[in-house]
Amino acid sequence: MKGEEIANKFVRFFEKNKHKKIESSSLLPLDKTVLLTTAGMQQFILYFKGEISAEKDFKSRTLTSVQKCFRTSDIDDVGDETHLTFFEMLGNFSVGDYFKKEAIGYALDFLAGELGLDKKRIWVTVFKGNENIPGDLEAIELWKHYGIPEERIFRFGTKENFWGPPGTTGPCGPCSELHYDLTKKACVKGKKCGPNCDCGRFIEVWNLVFMEYEFTEKKEYVRLPSKNIDTGMGLERITMILQKKENIFETDLFNDIINHIRKINYKNTKQNLRFERIVADHLRGSVFLICDGVRPSNVEQGYILRRILRKSISYLNLLGGKGDEIIDLVEFIIDKYEGRYKELGKNKGEIIGVITEEKDKFQRSLDKGFIEIEKLIRETKNKKSKRLPTKEIFQLYDTYGFPVEITKELASKEKLDVDEEEFEELFKKHQEKSRAGVEKKFGGVGDFGEKVARHHTATHLLHQALREVLGKDVRQAGSDLTPERIRFDFMFNRALTEEEKKKVEDIINKKIKECLPVKKETKKFKDAQKEGFLAFFRDKYGEEVSTYSIGNFSKEVCAGPHVTNTKEIGRFKIVKEKSSASGIRRIKAILE
Ligand code: SER
Repeated sequence: MKGEEIANKFVRFFEKNKHKKIESSSLLPLDKTVLLTTAGMQQFILYFKGEISAEKDFKSRTLTSVQKCFRTSDIDDVGDETHLTFFEMLGNFSVGDYFKKEAIGYALDFLAGELGLDKKRIWVTVFKGNENIPGDLEAIELWKHYGIPEERIFRFGTKENFWGPPGTTGPCGPCSELHYDLTKKACVKGKKCGPNCDCGRFIEVWNLVFMEYEFTEKKEYVRLPSKNIDTGMGLERITMILQKKENIFETDLFNDIINHIRKINYKNTKQNLRFERIVADHLRGSVFLICDGVRPSNVEQGYILRRILRKSISYLNLLGGKGDEIIDLVEFIIDKYEGRYKELGKNKGEIIGVITEEKDKFQRSLDKGFIEIEKLIRETKNKKSKRLPTKEIFQLYDTYGFPVEITKELASKEKLDVDEEEFEELFKKHQEKSRAGVEKKFGGVGDFGEKVARHHTATHLLHQALREVLGKDVRQAGSDLTPERIRFDFMFNRALTEEEKKKVEDIINKKIKECLPVKKETKKFKDAQKEGFLAFFRDKYGEEVSTYSIGNFSKEVCAGPHVTNTKEIGRFKIVKEKSSASGIRRIKAILE
């Protein structure tokens, strides 16, 4: 069974059991407590918290999805048998509908019934409790009820069996995981060899979260209004089991990408096998991130993208690929996945453009970096030293953007060490210095702040103007302000006409001319909502919030800063309007 068929089978199974299929959300989440989408539950957070109704929005409280996810937590393990950055997560969700018993029943039914896995090879883990939350004895009884014997049920603490929240605050709960016994052979630990043993016998397949709690800003666990279910199964891992492969890269989700990389024609060494996996994973991840609107930069999501993209380019270099192999590969990845992710086809030109630009920018520095590091290695060996000097390595990173991972690879090939701690220290010091530099560059915080405040108030006008011209369904999906320009993302599914853009500009410029006062107040979040203040990023708000009203025109919950009167803004002009991700448009605007 191909990976794609497994995903379809999963969705059909839950549809048959009255779940509604929901499309994957973007890798750029609405939940601003995290940088990227790391789990299927994120697009449902406000439903779990009872702030909006699943029944109303989806006509169903039971949902299923195949979610695009990106996790940086495993980035250093990529290259082994089972770890990835980007992956697809199969999930079923209940917003106050069914709970533990059904969730456990469905999971066993699907794995053993639908997919035909041997139930005797399924082992499970349950939460043993911590100082805040009691152990999950109910789950143990339920697993036994469904035929999993006591000796295949293992208890773990918070790290393994309490899931979430994905960011600093939000829904979370005890979880129970299904692990598959790959080899049926206990290691030296004998009877103690079970799920989470590091001997490689078991693979974690499916996580069932019993989402009853919310972790709040006060760092307390409070009960959510309903008992919910959130489950997640990695498509790549279940595919590996069903296709009886030893690692995820040999499944049909990856093997053709790997074969494509092998056209470069390098030696079949253990090290090269790891390199090709890193290239396959990082490039696939880059393609999906760019498609959802991330662009290489030195901060936040853009930094993650830049890091994996530059690593892909560097590892390809190590394999001997210094030319256009990367573009060939990117096209191959897009073609492979666009059947299931239409947005890849639509954004193909843009994705290739972004990667080409980053490659052109980086390759020259990388070439210089390779020359320098070889020199450094030679010198170190001549001095009969075993360790590459940290300051020089850091300089390589700082001057050429030379990835430290590549330095480590080259060092280890020559049996030399790198002092990672010392490197980290230099890295941190450097970051602090460059932050100070940014403030200087923009003429001190005051000047920088004033420009951003003008852009910020203009953004509120833009948000309201869009709602007047395109309808009240328009919702902000994100924004990014620099002293040079406004970038505003909103949920809307088609391009704006010239006439609409003009209307939006005209409304904003009219409001600026009207010299409307900008009023700041502090309110209880609930009152602000009642009074009609827009607040789409509800998750990051505490109980008390600041609100900004611009005359009678716009009302938003916001942390600021803003100007005090619209006359300070200047003239508003849209310079670009385009798609940013599926269902999301992006406007770039400037103040003249
Ligand atoms: N949220 C849980 C996870 O990511 C289950 O979907 O593992």
